[in-house]
Amino acid sequence: MRGRSKFLLALTSLSLITSISAQAQLSTSNFEARLTAGSGVLRSLTSTLDLSFDFSPDDVFKYRDGPGQYHTGDLTFHYRSAGGTPWRFADTAALWQDVSSSSDGGSSHITTSLNPALPHVPETLNVTRTWQEVDGDLALSFTIRNHASEAFELGSLGMPIEFNNIFTNRTASETTEKCVFVEPYIGLNAGYAQVTRLTGTGPSLVVTPLTADSKFEGWQFLEEPEDVPLGYRIQTFEGNYAWQTHTLALAETEWKNAEPWNPPTSAILQPGRSVTVGLRFSVAGSVQEIESEVSDAGLPTVVGVLGYIVPPDLTAKLFVNSKQEISAISAYPAGSLQIVPCGQHDGRWKGYDVTVASSNAFGRVRLEITYGDDSVQAVHYWIAHSSPKALSEFGTFLTTEQWFTNRSDPFGRAPGVITYNRDTNDYVDQDNRTWIAGMSDEGGAGSFLAAGMKQYVWPDADEVAKLEQMVEEVVWGGLQLTSGNETYAVRKSLFFYEPELVPNYEYDPYFNWTVNPGQSWDKEAAYLIDRTYNYLLKAYNTVAFSVSNSSDGTPHTSYWHVGLMGVCVWGLLLSDLYAEGYTQQAEHMEDLMLARQRLWAGVPNPFGSEMAWDSTGEEGVYYWSRYFNDSATAQKTIEAIRGYMPTIPSWAYNGNVRRYWDFLYAGDIKLRGYERQIHHYGSGLNALQILDNYHRSKNPQSLEAINDLRVGYGGNQGPLSNIDEDGFGSMAFHGYPDRLIWDAYSRDYGPNFLGHVIGAATYLIDHPIFGWISFGGNVQAYSNNSQITVQPRDAVRKHIFIAEVSLWVEIDAGVIEQFALDTKSMEVVVNISSGSAQQVLLKWEQTAQQAGRPEMKLVSEGMKRRLDGWTVDTPATVRFFAT
Ligand SMILES: *[C@@H]1O[C@H](CO)[C@@H](O)[C@H](O)[C@H]1NC(C)=O
Ligand SMILES: *[C@@H]1O[C@H](CO)[C@@H](O)[C@H](O)[C@H]1NC(C)=O
Ligand SMILES: *[C@@H]1O[C@H](CO)[C@@H](O)[C@H](O)[C@H]1NC(C)=O
Ligand SMILES: *[C@@H]1O[C@H](CO)[C@@H](O)[C@H](O)[C@H]1NC(C)=O
Ligand SMILES: *[C@@H]1O[C@H](CO)[C@@H](O)[C@H](O)[C@H]1NC(C)=O
Ligand SMILES: *[C@@H]1O[C@H](CO)[C@@H](O)[C@H](O)[C@H]1NC(C)=O
Ligand SMILES: *[C@@H]1O[C@H](CO)[C@@H](O)[C@H](O)[C@H]1NC(C)=O
Ligand SMILES: *[C@@H]1O[C@H](CO)[C@@H](O)[C@H](O)[C@H]1NC(C)=O
Ligand SMILES: *[C@@H]1O[C@H](CO)[C@@H](O)[C@H](O)[C@H]1NC(C)=O
Ligand SMILES: *[C@@H]1O[C@H](CO)[C@@H](O)[C@H](O)[C@H]1NC(C)=O
Repeated sequence: MRGRSKFLLALTSLSLITSISAQAQLSTSNFEARLTAGSGVLRSLTSTLDLSFDFSPDDVFKYRDGPGQYHTGDLTFHYRSAGGTPWRFADTAALWQDVSSSSDGGSSHITTSLNPALPHVPETLNVTRTWQEVDGDLALSFTIRNHASEAFELGSLGMPIEFNNIFTNRTASETTEKCVFVEPYIGLNAGYAQVTRLTGTGPSLVVTPLTADSKFEGWQFLEEPEDVPLGYRIQTFEGNYAWQTHTLALAETEWKNAEPWNPPTSAILQPGRSVTVGLRFSVAGSVQEIESEVSDAGLPTVVGVLGYIVPPDLTAKLFVNSKQEISAISAYPAGSLQIVPCGQHDGRWKGYDVTVASSNAFGRVRLEITYGDDSVQAVHYWIAHSSPKALSEFGTFLTTEQWFTNRSDPFGRAPGVITYNRDTNDYVDQDNRTWIAGMSDEGGAGSFLAAGMKQYVWPDADEVAKLEQMVEEVVWGGLQLTSGNETYAVRKSLFFYEPELVPNYEYDPYFNWTVNPGQSWDKEAAYLIDRTYNYLLKAYNTVAFSVSNSSDGTPHTSYWHVGLMGVCVWGLLLSDLYAEGYTQQAEHMEDLMLARQRLWAGVPNPFGSEMAWDSTGEEGVYYWSRYFNDSATAQKTIEAIRGYMPTIPSWAYNGNVRRYWDFLYAGDIKLRGYERQIHHYGSGLNALQILDNYHRSKNPQSLEAINDLRVGYGGNQGPLSNIDEDGFGSMAFHGYPDRLIWDAYSRDYGPNFLGHVIGAATYLIDHPIFGWISFGGNVQAYSNNSQITVQPRDAVRKHIFIAEVSLWVEIDAGVIEQFALDTKSMEVVVNISSGSAQQVLLKWEQTAQQAGRPEMKLVSEGMKRRLDGWTVDTPATVRFFAT
């Protein structure tokens, strides 16, 4: 919280209101906290900025008070005699033990011996917990003291973190009003967790390490009983995690097959010595103030530009704000990234150029920043191929390895781009989750959608020819109905389970096709047309069919009323209809969209899908609300996205949209289940709205607006990491610490890739602290002249945004080689090379009128005006001047 009053701090100290055998109330200047009777864990936490909002699940706590259920205030650890014997495990949640009789509260702390809750731990290891106030914040700490004559080794030391991310049995509106998301920065001594509201508004919690020994080494998913009233690890309750300060014991056992985020460590506790670990809970006034709150809590913070996914043709930047001197920066694997200082900013921030140092470097890299006090910060990077290489390899992979050609297929799936399994390097032409092999639904259509989007930005004649073949032979008449009263309807799956109908077909006995009756669709279920889709040629009719009603008034599809993914494509379609003179169709489509938008405008939570809570509907709600100038609904949507889309110094979590159930419905069958997904399609898709909103900011060079750019750019870059070294695109990365691998199935990577290429752009901004920087491009700014030049390095190199004058420029083919801004005259020069296009369509817009900034005009001589833009012969130099 900025501007926290030191005066108030001095006056308020923690006060213990009720006795500790009942619920204890703790008041600090920033918080009101309530500890549960008996075990003394946290059950309610409200900040004094908004006492009406509880971050903890107090309202359902009565269902969470059983053995094995974890809360903030519990402790787990692995220990053994130093140098021998297997690890033993201790866990204060296991028994749900009343420890209140061993509690002692003073005016400024409550200290409790936890040994009564740990009957198997030798008495000589004395474990205590303390709740106390630190500078107005709430602090939780644990001390383990070794009274034995031998040394002990601690192989894990985990502090469970529980906040109200329980959506079970709540309406969508209640969920939005009451619940929070918890996201980790697993950054060692600089690590933190952030707790944001689903509304994306109001105060957020920041959880930081209390002591030097409390480094954030691992983020452990906590196993709990699942057969409980609220459920656990289900769609409405992802579950809880622990902040691990040591992970060696886990790395040797449960996590042994995974490459961890950070090197696993243990601690040796010599006789007579103790270790204290703990967490500090602070409050940030808004999601945009989380980083400054972390800094106020004494931690270093970093800002990566363009983020933490770095291709070799780009110079990225890392800015570090620390009170301590930086004594070393090292990359692991060594030699993968090069880090070169590039100046100091504002006295506090040190800048570095970050580049790929080796031509064969690819994948995960950990950057360790060591400070003068020996504390270490980890920043997790991903090295990708350059975008042209990645996209070209991806296009090849889809249209060769994933190109299914068996014309004897009784389901009619050839020729076409089909789901692929990277482990077996084979088609997924069978799966008891039929849709995955059925070339429709998200799971089955993802691959050919991606192949189509690849052509949209980097067309290749042979690849286009193959897709045309697929449209003629598989889509039109197969996936899509071509006659009758349901023409333009789209089937859910071509593949189905109904052995009688395909007598010569051998269903793979590996799958249990009947374990969940109905789950493996039969022909009737597979051919249902109730899904709303937004792809295919004959697009307008497909759209119109999907959101209209049959003659008896029943809607054609079940999802016509919710926001849909990839819907910006409908927007492109609509503008094309107008541009090509199909005014009647365009107006009809507008009417249909307006009716849906009015529905959303009228309800408190318009972001529904088939799931209780989801991060998919926002795209459509934002898109059409903005289109119809309903800024209130558009803004509410942006706030909701800010709640679940963080910026965090890790390629995995930066711009990663919270999703955790689709491995079950469509991931590799061997790893299916609920699990946090990294860069599933939410990243690429939600980035579109955040970035569009950023373009319209009245002050796009303010720190608050740039926060959106960082979040959005992280989400947009995420899908680049899904493409492996050989061009295979995976649906998502497995986030559990015992996995940390890409899923072997391609599945629904398509929508993520769609977001990646449609949202790709290079941004130039004059950052209030860092000066001229670019997201997505290489910048040259020389102090001896007023020209700033940028070479785009984003995925498509056809879209640019110059924040100084809110100028958006895009071309539909060719490549923007370079653009330049003259900071004195505000003239903008854009160099366009032809690629394979002799002519390109140029569109531009000044997306906001900033105070004190000129209106921009295009020098249009030599160009041909069209309704939707300008035709430009290439190569070309396009100029804009300030009026
Ligand atoms: C643990 O340490 C506390 C604080 O030093 C002390 O009061 C308590 O008696 C010790 N308990 C055991 C079991 O040694
Ligand atoms: C959730 O709702 C169901 C159906 O109304 C009810 O049977 C169940 O008891 C509720 N569970 C909890 C934990 O509130
Ligand atoms: C093509 O599909 C048919 C029918 O499923 C099958 O019998 C045949 O083995 C397949 N051919 C190849 C080359 O996989
Ligand atoms: C699919 O088959 C697997 C393997 O036999 C089985 O464990 C699973 O429950 C089945 N899933 C569905 C949705 O039928
Ligand atoms: C498939 O699952 C059903 C229901 O659990 C079970 O009865 C059947 O034996 C299973 N089939 C195979 C082949 O495992
Ligand atoms: C279709 O029917 C629903 C009610 O089921 C109605 O709300 C909607 O406006 C209708 N759509 C059109 C395009 O008439
Ligand atoms: C199309 O006609 C069939 C047969 O009359 C009927 O069952 C079905 O509901 C109709 N579908 C639509 C979308 O009108
Ligand atoms: C939204 O507002 C803009 C600017 O006032 C206007 O040009 C546009 O026509 C409006 N759009 C709709 C669909 O009303
Ligand atoms: C400006 O500075 C750059 C880099 O120091 C140098 O290469 C360039 O020649 C200079 N240009 C002028 C016009 O002095
Ligand atoms: C951009 O175009 C201008 C004017 O034609 C030319 O002077 C400049 O060299 C071009 N720059 C690049 C990088 O193509």
